[in-house]
Amino acid sequence: MTVPGLKAMKAEGRKIVMLTAYDASFAAQLESAGVDVALVGDSLGMVVQGRSSTLPVTIDDMVYHTAAVARGLSATLLVADLPFMSDRDVPTALDSAARLVAQGGAAMVKIEGAGRVCTVIAALAERDIPVCGHLGLTPQSVNRLGGYKVQGKTEAAAEQLFADAQAVEAAGADLLVLECVPSSLAARITAALSIPVIGIGAGIGCDGQVLVVYDMLGLTPGKRPKFSKDFLAGRDAISAAIAAYADDVREKRFPGPEHSFS
Ligand code: KIV
Ligand code: NA
Repeated sequence: MTVPGLKAMKAEGRKIVMLTAYDASFAAQLESAGVDVALVGDSLGMVVQGRSSTLPVTIDDMVYHTAAVARGLSATLLVADLPFMSDRDVPTALDSAARLVAQGGAAMVKIEGAGRVCTVIAALAERDIPVCGHLGLTPQSVNRLGGYKVQGKTEAAAEQLFADAQAVEAAGADLLVLECVPSSLAARITAALSIPVIGIGAGIGCDGQVLVVYDMLGLTPGKRPKFSKDFLAGRDAISAAIAAYADDVREKRFPGPEHSFS
């Protein structure tokens, strides 16, 4: 999979399947199941390191896991998160992204937010580092947001989110993740943008879907998020669960209304 390949999928109306991975063995499982995009998410701070937020994750952590995942892949597009504060200004963000690409083997970096973040997105894009934006529930902003909650619920918040999505695309992003936003708003943003939009808790109207792999295998301790689904339940192998997820996304069977916000 390539960056132009993702754009072609949007143009052809083929759903993009994205899933997180944190090590080489899971990466190989994703690749065998035909997942299009592997994301080394800073969610690793919670599901691998056992922390209560993504804020303590460092660029060293991200480079380590990205390199491990890269060794398990040959054809899957590899995206890595810029962790908290590793993108705080243009020079720092360029250094961080360069490490994820050159040492980690990422083809694309993901960055949370809009506003002044757009300057950073533009600087990365100018250096031909493909960028994935991330809007809606941005976990690195948990302290400002006051928790992990659905975003864009009021008319004003929805309009701000719509404008932010357009600004992220205009800054040069090649992909956008929308997390925990009402399905109708996500569908509206997806239709308005020319870059592919990947949803998590954003309904069926996006160009593709992403989940945290341990959530969709029922491994993450505690309550499963509403937007996720245990694909291992009733199946006898992790490979079968990942293949079922890929199939359900492509056939528009996942997410259902029960995994989405109205
Ligand atoms: O860190 C992560 O896993 C993510 C996805 C949930 C989009 O950012
Ligand atoms: Na993340």
